[in-house]
Amino acid sequence: MMKPALRIERLKGRAILDRLDDLARLRIAVFRDFPYLYDGGMEYETGYMRTYAESADAVLIAAFDGDKTVGASTAVPLKDASEECIKPFAAQGHDIGSIFYFGESVLLRPYRGRGVGLRFFEEREAAAKAHGGIEIATFCAVERPDDHPLRPKDYMPLDRFWEKRGYARHPELVAKFHWRDLTDGMDSEKSLVFWLKRV
Ligand SMILES: CC(C)(COP(=O)(O)OP(=O)(O)OC[C@H]1O[C@@H](n2cnc3c(N)ncnc32)[C@H](O)[C@@H]1OP(=O)(O)O)[C@@H](O)C(=O)NCCC(=O)NCCS
Repeated sequence: MMKPALRIERLKGRAILDRLDDLARLRIAVFRDFPYLYDGGMEYETGYMRTYAESADAVLIAAFDGDKTVGASTAVPLKDASEECIKPFAAQGHDIGSIFYFGESVLLRPYRGRGVGLRFFEEREAAAKAHGGIEIATFCAVERPDDHPLRPKDYMPLDRFWEKRGYARHPELVAKFHWRDLTDGMDSEKSLVFWLKRV
């Protein structure tokens, strides 16, 4: 039987606020997996969500199965993103005002492989272009050692997908984030490398 189509919506402004709890729930569920291994909680999430609640130009792409939010993806002008994200760009002399930052893409497992990840990129790039004055779209990804004990045998990095979408890895741009790892039960520093594309 064919799976029902998912509905994708690009939300802005107050409409985002109604979906922040869903975003937090999805992030906690999806980022438990390798390579994130995020032992998420609402306290961390509430701080994280502030960026998307407070920026007038934030966008949230939501994927719905009926009434249920099953996936979400975010973007915001870099100037409105967290200090951790801005810092490496400032250090390298980039024009912060010309960059759009993509937050996470999270989609529940049963809904993967149907092109939603692709739509998340298309919608966020469209939002970046619509904003005006934007030249670069960027996102960052955590990097774990290849021999990490929790790396699933069938794990496929998303690098190919990102390259195909026109993004290039920039090892000179690294953000340092802290979150509680599933493995050690406490906050530790993670390095996330940025990927960039001209839009
Ligand atoms: C990233 C994610 C949103 C992609 O969603 P999706 O709807 O399954 O992706 P699509 O169906 O649009 O597939 C896009 C491409 O990625 C590939 N792909 C999909 N899932 C993949 C996976 N787990 N590993 C590697 N490649 C994958 C597909 O083959 C496709 O490639 P193609 O364009 O060459 O055919 C989803 O896998 C997810 O939530 N992953 C966990 C969270 C995560 O890692 N997010 C990204 C960083 S924040």
